[in-house]
Amino acid sequence: MRQLILTLGCVGLLAASPIHAEDLSAESIEGYIKYRDKVMDAASANMGGIAKLLSGHVNLPGRMAGHAQALENLMTDIPALFPEGSDFGETDAKAEVWSDSKKFSLAAETAQGKAKMLNEAVTGGDKKAIAAAFKDLGGSCKACHKKFKAKH
Ligand code: HEC
Repeated sequence: MRQLILTLGCVGLLAASPIHAEDLSAESIEGYIKYRDKVMDAASANMGGIAKLLSGHVNLPGRMAGHAQALENLMTDIPALFPEGSDFGETDAKAEVWSDSKKFSLAAETAQGKAKMLNEAVTGGDKKAIAAAFKDLGGSCKACHKKFKAKH
């Protein structure tokens, strides 16, 4: 039992330690970059879905909650998708993601908060409040991209 507790304790420590460049294989770096692109694309698709539902041309109000919940989930702990060392290859992430990681974390936390507020507004059901929260979240996506994502 004592051994088990010790082992579990070590696993916990490992999980909590930051990932460093030398720990990542080329395959792993590629994996992180592709994975975060999928998360971002999913966020974009869910934003697009909400925009259509808000447009007034699609009468499926019950579908809004799924998109809002997905956005809240997708915007959770974005910095974890950008481990140190995943800064080369097919990435649009700027060097500032790592050199100014405090600001990056702050931008991520802001977006997470805005996604939570959108989800709450959708639960509340007031269309004006939903539209305002949607715009706010979109603004926080853009704010982060402006500083941390390279343009094409
Ligand atoms: C904390 C910063 C941050 C936030 C918040 C953020 N993004 Fe991103 N996003 C990035 C970075 C950095 C990249 C470039 C990632 C890469 O290429 O490795 C990116 C890439 C993307 C891409 C391109 C993905 C691809 O396949 O190349 C899309 C689309 C996108 N984001 C949409 C969104 C949407 C929509 C939101 C808001 C709901 C959002 N992002 C919030 C930082 C952020």
